Amino acid sequence: MKVGKNVIFHGQVNLGKGSVIQDNVVIGNSDEGEVNIGRKALIRSGSVIYSGVKIGDNFQSGKNVEIGSNLTIEDDVVLGSNISLGDNVVVRKGTMIGDNVIIGYRDIKSDQDAPVEPVVTEIGESARIRSGSVIYWGTKIGSNSMVGHNAVIRENTIIGHDTYIGSLTAIEGDTKIGNYVGIHTQCHITKFCDIGDYTFIAPIFVGANDQLMSHMRAGHGQNLIGFTTGKYVRIAVGVTVLPGVHFGEGCIVAAGSVVTKDVPPYKVVAGVPARVVKDAPKEEVVISH
Ligand SMILES: CC(C)(COP(=O)(O)OP(=O)(O)OC[C@H]1O[C@@H](n2cnc3c(N)ncnc32)[C@H](O)[C@@H]1OP(=O)(O)O)[C@@H](O)C(=O)NCCC(=O)NCCS
Repeated sequence: MKVGKNVIFHGQVNLGKGSVIQDNVVIGNSDEGEVNIGRKALIRSGSVIYSGVKIGDNFQSGKNVEIGSNLTIEDDVVLGSNISLGDNVVVRKGTMIGDNVIIGYRDIKSDQDAPVEPVVTEIGESARIRSGSVIYWGTKIGSNSMVGHNAVIRENTIIGHDTYIGSLTAIEGDTKIGNYVGIHTQCHITKFCDIGDYTFIAPIFVGANDQLMSHMRAGHGQNLIGFTTGKYVRIAVGVTVLPGVHFGEGCIVAAGSVVTKDVPPYKVVAGVPARVVKDAPKEEVVISH
């Protein structure tokens, strides 16, 4: 074990064999809580690890990483630099998190409405979170899923396994996204959406969830309704969708369409407003993986 200069241990700290702690690291912030770190950890300079943290074997973290309390990091996790993992975060085995990522983010103000029970934010096994992304508290991302650069995923978003969220995409929270879903670059997914398995959404998708744009008016934010999709839906580049639309299983939405009404299953819709133009081929929903 190698410990650098100005390293402070506070409370009970158990460090596994072969671990390296660089300079100016603080491990533990209370006399009561423990910190357990497995074998062969590499914790780079300037990092702070709070009490109540359990870290598995082969952990690697970049510089200036902040690791909140009551947090679990399983084996073989690699973190970049300048990362903040909030309280009650769980990072499963083999996950990689890029530089300048925040996980478990909460506005300072939101402590006023904090739930009584701690809310877990979870990043599934072998997931990848690329640099610059912010993932709010209470969000769960399944195994093998991937988040691109500078994406924002707000609170209580539940994302399945083998799904990707493209760079610069914003997911506004309280939304469910299935397994094997692809949401491409620069998409706006509002609150209260439900996106079925194998759905693909091409770049520059815009969802709306407030029909009357009640901003600063009576009833502001009270009648929000997201869009929903069945399985195997494909939405082309530059589509806009109005509140409450359901995309039926296997439907296809053509590029640049504005979708104002539900889309029937296995139909192609196109235009402004989108109208059915033909059937969507059922055989194309067969997925290879
Ligand atoms: C929906 C789509 C797949 C249909 O392609 P297609 O099966 O080859 O269908 P066609 O081109 O024969 O179009 C069928 C009809 O819909 C119309 N149509 C197709 N796309 C349209 C669009 N974006 N807007 C308005 N009308 C459209 C066609 O003009 C045609 O009308 P017609 O029968 O009166 O001539 C294709 O238009 C599309 O949008 N592809 C998606 C591209 C994309 O976003 N890829 C993702 C990259 S990351």
